[in-house]
Amino acid sequence: MKFVVAIDGPASSGKSTTARLLARKLGFIHLDTGAMYRAVTYLLLGKQAEEATDDKVAGILESSPLEFSIIEGALSVRLDGKQLTDELRSPEVDRWVSPVSERRVVRKFCVKKQREIGKDAKLVCEGRDIGSVVFPDAELKVFMKSDLAERARRRQKELEAKGIDSDEVEVKAGLVTRDKIDSGRELSPLIQVDDAMVVDTTDMSIEEQVDVIYKEVVKRTGKSGGRGMGGGR
Ligand code: DC
Repeated sequence: MKFVVAIDGPASSGKSTTARLLARKLGFIHLDTGAMYRAVTYLLLGKQAEEATDDKVAGILESSPLEFSIIEGALSVRLDGKQLTDELRSPEVDRWVSPVSERRVVRKFCVKKQREIGKDAKLVCEGRDIGSVVFPDAELKVFMKSDLAERARRRQKELEAKGIDSDEVEVKAGLVTRDKIDSGRELSPLIQVDDAMVVDTTDMSIEEQVDVIYKEVVKRTGKSGGRGMGGGR
């Protein structure tokens, strides 16, 4: 039986950590679609093609040495056979990922891969357009949100853990800019769909965030959870 939990929300709203832990608890696949857009951005930056024409970008993606696969229940991204992890979260990728992911040619490429991975799977999929565009028939849609100040605090903590110095004002401004592009773009903007369960994570712990969604999945499947529910594929 397929089951898609579609989680959407702005940057640093708690989606990734929640989705990863929720997927583990349910035994579902975790699909971080932001990582796909980040991988495409990284690829284009490496070719100095982040602002190239659509034709050029399409050509790069068609002959793309990027591979997306599911390994041990989570997305693995490889470029020329090399696994990408920290590279996807560099300040340079952060800066370019929103304008790159606005482009039709990039969205088409990523959405196709997401639907291939999600076909007939048990999946926790997070992004900006999952409940609205990628999986509009998802069994459960969640919209996660949080105060800007709290999101900036989380982002700074994340950067600090990687030894990257950051300035609060700059981090906030970066989030506001990304929010604006992600929500204001013509194609697949970030929106809260009517049938989404809204989770405001401002004052919630990670455990609480996972738990509230987990309980909803259990309610909708009518089964008790644990690893036994899973087997994404
Ligand atoms: O979730 P994230 O911060 O890693 O996402 C990075 C960027 O990718 C985000 O600013 C917009 C884009 N994105 C998107 O356009 N659609 C998605 N489904 C996921 C991410």
